[in-house]
Amino acid sequence: MSEAKWSVGAGLEGRGVIITGASGGIGSAVTKAFASAGARILAIDINQERIDTVLSDCDGDGHIGLVEDLNDLDSHEGIVERAVRDLGGVFALVHTAAVLRRASNIDAVTEGDWDFQLDTNLKATFFFSRTVASEMIDAGQGGRIILFSSQGWQTGGFGGSVVYAASKGGIVTMSRGLARTYGPHGIAVNTIAPGQIKTPMLLTDLDPAVYERMTKDTPLGYVGEPEDIAGVAVFLASDHARYISGATINVSGGFLMY
Ligand SMILES: NC(=O)c1ccc[n+]([C@@H]2O[C@H](COP(=O)([O-])OP(=O)(O)OC[C@H]3O[C@@H](n4cnc5c(N)ncnc54)[C@H](O)[C@@H]3O)[C@@H](O)[C@H]2O)c1
Repeated sequence: MSEAKWSVGAGLEGRGVIITGASGGIGSAVTKAFASAGARILAIDINQERIDTVLSDCDGDGHIGLVEDLNDLDSHEGIVERAVRDLGGVFALVHTAAVLRRASNIDAVTEGDWDFQLDTNLKATFFFSRTVASEMIDAGQGGRIILFSSQGWQTGGFGGSVVYAASKGGIVTMSRGLARTYGPHGIAVNTIAPGQIKTPMLLTDLDPAVYERMTKDTPLGYVGEPEDIAGVAVFLASDHARYISGATINVSGGFLMY
């Protein structure tokens, strides 16, 4: 690695970035943040109108929004090909797409609940990351893969989220394996583990008393905003983070300390 020309900028101007879950709570903030940093974005989610709304609020131009269900593994190659063709390459993947199905009674968890969460959160993540990494290897310029875990990987989850937490534990382990696998190609792989962030996912079926307790138990005194995560994703893709790989970044306002 050559000597850095030091700059406070992220170094993302004109770089192609794929963002999944791009119209979700965190994904939309991540998309706007990367656009502000000058990146060109391919935004993936399952609802065109919501993607269009997010992209219409983004700085820059040349961004693309695609409706894709990432559980359809056959769609992955085409998504990456589109990014290469229309963005000029893929420097980073920020993979926020995931699902949570709470079950306050563990005996109510069905095989369907298990498959839905593990398929989306872990299986699709593995295959999509591998497809993106394969393109990065072919391009020979290195790259960044940023995955999303959760505080649940450490705590086992709150409010009926054991299965979700298991999928997020898998993300931490898998991202370490991917970091070892792809490091020799100059591809850094890291995971962000948010604490509690105010998004549709957190608030779905959440007992208000649990929300109150989360606020009280967070040393910084509030439940996080999506922007509190977006800056960390930009940092991990930036020049400043070029020697970080295999890390799990705890972004929880001090709720967890590790
Ligand atoms: N909000 C929190 O408190 C919190 C805490 C810990 C971890 N996280 C993690 O952060 C990430 C973002 O969460 P969020 O709170 O923004 O959730 P969200 O539900 O607001 O957004 C998730 C997005 O992913 C999309 N998505 C789901 N399945 C998909 C599929 N098969 N194909 C394409 N898109 C799909 C959804 O449509 C949605 O827009 C997730 O990985 C989540 O597990 C969130």
